[in-house]
Amino acid sequence: MSLVLKLNGVEHTVDAEPGTPLLWVLRDELQMTGTKFGCGVASCGACTVHVDGFPMRSCITAAEDVAGAEITTIEAIGATKEGAAIQQAWEELDVVQCGYCQSGQIMSAVGLLTENPKPSVGDIHDYMDGNACRCATYQRIRAGIQRASEIMEG
Ligand code: FES
Repeated sequence: MSLVLKLNGVEHTVDAEPGTPLLWVLRDELQMTGTKFGCGVASCGACTVHVDGFPMRSCITAAEDVAGAEITTIEAIGATKEGAAIQQAWEELDVVQCGYCQSGQIMSAVGLLTENPKPSVGDIHDYMDGNACRCATYQRIRAGIQRASEIMEG
């Protein structure tokens, strides 16, 4: 089936079988490979993108279900205030280890700061609970979100 996806502000017409996960359309059809495959069952968060501003797991989201929505991926999240603050904080604190989970971590972190610009440690723990990191960078992720919150305050 033919679909029009609005990705990072640009419309793309793609062909996809019904039920094809958005993740595969992003990676295989549109060559947007910043979004990662982790578990395939929405348990690890590596595939997180934003749909109309809210974090969603692209591995279980059918592409046709988000046709017409505003889809944002890691490649464009730095254009948002929250995304720019997260990127700056991530660099300052050297959050990343292997990096595989980090685009999903960043997309969720931006979702958190958009909803709650001054999250407590508990808020961060609760919101980020669905994003796994096999390198166990959790403490640096929490510190990075707190630092991004400070950056946003100015
Ligand atoms: Fe390696 Fe998170 S940085 S899995």
